[in-house]
Amino acid sequence: MSSKIIVIGSANADLVIHSPKMPRIGETLTGSNFQVNAGGKGLNQAVAIAKLGGNVSFCGCVGNDANGELLLNELKNNDVTFKGFETEEAPTGIAMITVVDGNNFIILDSGANARLTPEVIENYSDLIAECEYCVMQLEIPVETVLKVCEIAKNSDTKIILNPAPYKKIPEILFSQIDYIIPNEHEAHDLTGIYPDSEENTRKAVLKLNQMGVKNVIITLGERGCAYNVGDSVLFKPAIKTEVVDTTSAGDTFIGALVSKLSQNETLNNAIFYATKASAITVSRLGASKSIPYADEIE
Ligand code: RIB
Repeated sequence: MSSKIIVIGSANADLVIHSPKMPRIGETLTGSNFQVNAGGKGLNQAVAIAKLGGNVSFCGCVGNDANGELLLNELKNNDVTFKGFETEEAPTGIAMITVVDGNNFIILDSGANARLTPEVIENYSDLIAECEYCVMQLEIPVETVLKVCEIAKNSDTKIILNPAPYKKIPEILFSQIDYIIPNEHEAHDLTGIYPDSEENTRKAVLKLNQMGVKNVIITLGERGCAYNVGDSVLFKPAIKTEVVDTTSAGDTFIGALVSKLSQNETLNNAIFYATKASAITVSRLGASKSIPYADEIE
């Protein structure tokens, strides 16, 4: 039995091009393999949860345009219940993604994602309170994240925050988050400690604990991840694989982790599962479409 999960976050149309290198200022390069894919950290995480057996709704905002339709279809095709809305007032969010040697460089235009305001989110109070887990990122307004935490305080809903892309968040928020899952850059921005060695990683995890978050998981790319169990910091190495495109590897990790937690798995087992899922994602092209199904992981 899996408990209910809500993802409150972004949905973007990803405009992706592969390039032999990053262009210099003023330089034009010929790339290849241009695609328009469904993406956005919120949508990717919701799709990952659904593909991996979780019971998930997605609350976000898309424009009333062709890109919005692409995203709504992606949610529908993956059995994610859409609880958000369409707006006439802004276009669907866009992510311009350049992939070089499997690594991605992303620039966002929030578009409709910015319409997910604290006022709007109040309409979702009952839904938030009904869920065991509420997953958020920072591609929506920070004030909305704060509002959701305030709503969740009156229920047993656990907040999972992926602080991506990094934005300054009020200190009060940390004690309201049950799990924080930054990557190494976001961990650095949050703590001032770059997790580039085992010792620094340990320090960054413990600093986030001291800042008020009970459960900290820092994803470290090809080095795997580090997390705390009580006062101990543990490391889980990544699984070696051919890297084709890292887009949505972090989203897969988070989705897989939450899906397993909602099925009452231990944190250790959920992290191992998430490590396997994200290894498959990096070996494929695209965002939500590169996320594996449960049977591929087993
Ligand atoms: O995490 C990957 C995602 O970040 C992409 O799908 C893009 O839309 C950006 O939100």
